Amino acid sequence: MAVTFEQRRIAGDTGSPAQVLDQAIQAHRNGALDAAEHGYQTLLATQPQHPDALHFLGVLCHQRGRSDEATALIERALALAPEYPDAHNNLGNVHKECGRLAQAEACYRRALACGPSHHHALANLAIVLEAQARPGEAFIAYAQLLQQAPGFAHGHYLLGLFLRNHAQSHEHLEQSAECFGHAWQLDNGNLRALEAQGTALYLLGRHEQAREVYRAWLSRSPDNAVARHMLAACGGGEPPPRADDAYVREVFDGFAESFDEQLLRNLDYRAPELLVAGLAARLGRPHAALDVLDAGCGTGLCAPLLRPHARHLAGVDLSGGMIEKAQQRGGYDELVVGELTAHLHAQPAAWDVVISADTLVYFGDLHEVAAAAHGALRRGGWLAFTVEVLDDESDRWELGASGRYRHGRAHVHAALMQAGFGAVDIAPVILRNEGGLPVQGWLVLALK
Ligand SMILES: C[S@@+](CC[C@H](N)C(=O)[O-])C[C@H]1O[C@@H](n2cnc3c(N)ncnc32)[C@H](O)[C@@H]1O
Repeated sequence: MAVTFEQRRIAGDTGSPAQVLDQAIQAHRNGALDAAEHGYQTLLATQPQHPDALHFLGVLCHQRGRSDEATALIERALALAPEYPDAHNNLGNVHKECGRLAQAEACYRRALACGPSHHHALANLAIVLEAQARPGEAFIAYAQLLQQAPGFAHGHYLLGLFLRNHAQSHEHLEQSAECFGHAWQLDNGNLRALEAQGTALYLLGRHEQAREVYRAWLSRSPDNAVARHMLAACGGGEPPPRADDAYVREVFDGFAESFDEQLLRNLDYRAPELLVAGLAARLGRPHAALDVLDAGCGTGLCAPLLRPHARHLAGVDLSGGMIEKAQQRGGYDELVVGELTAHLHAQPAAWDVVISADTLVYFGDLHEVAAAAHGALRRGGWLAFTVEVLDDESDRWELGASGRYRHGRAHVHAALMQAGFGAVDIAPVILRNEGGLPVQGWLVLALK
């Protein structure tokens, strides 16, 4: 989660409680979680009522997947220091990430009651209002945020996403492109804003301007995988046969934080449910007897659906940030950071089910990955995946302006048959909404 550290006490002498806290916070910021946890525990051993140590230890517990402990610790901090906006905000983040949106909203409102200028709390409030399908109230909160903090780049980016997610007219898309542009001008480190601006311009039909955004980006950082991929996606270069590992890592490490709320609540994402329902119809009643690999598991949305079928449930994903979220969600027996094709190649006849929800949209040519999945499955095993529809009868795939690939039915079929699958079922489905429109997909089930 986006942790806000607003230290409440000033630094003190070497070895003093304030200095122990400073060092623990520094370690926490640097991702040295063992050292940070040790520091907070050391301080709490002598000062069990230290609100900052309780609060930050709570945040750390949540980051390590111990969310109940996190909630209890931050609540203890707040019982001792009720006017502590940062702790209210971080408790809201824990609730939000555990899916308790109403409780999260209450925490953000409390943070704002004691710290009215807490931008992060106001941004988070807008996000949970949007996620609770209250777009009118969310819009007011975003507007208030930008009025209060016009220089808060992330606020412009969030409003851009909101306008894009709920676009009902061309004008909304225009405004979203403007918001992404402001976010980028205010914070040149916000590359997601730049990427989103390019995509918005492309969707508005301003293709050359979109390419310009990516070319300018590449001229500053010629090795940037996102800029290279997106330039190709806008017709400014040859699309690679699958998205570069560096592109996937960069995009999803940056997306891990907000993935669930963006997809599930705002975009009505349903690939995991559709896939597991399709599989369940073939597998019959769950007996927790199968070895299942979730290939491109992301934050683990498939895990609770697959668990009843699985004796062993593993997930693999290129993005360490997404795997961290999957770890927090729980449900897997094994999680691996790695490239899924290589992972499949390395495990011959190891799995009864390989499932891949909304992940092969980062692959163009499906031949190699289909062959790798075939090799990794046992006889009688199932490969289940979704991809986006390319409305073309011929054996084709293409890279779309979103940066995701689309596949013609004939390409999907040919890749699976050539890999050696026997029965192949390819059905049209709606995967999610985007820009107010349904995204058409193929739901694919292939039997080895
Ligand atoms: C849109 S997310 C879907 C995540 C999850 N399956 C779900 O349905 O929520 C796509 C995921 O695929 C991962 N991914 C894309 N290409 C990959 C590859 N070649 N190897 C492993 N993971 C990959 C990304 O990191 C990301 O987490």
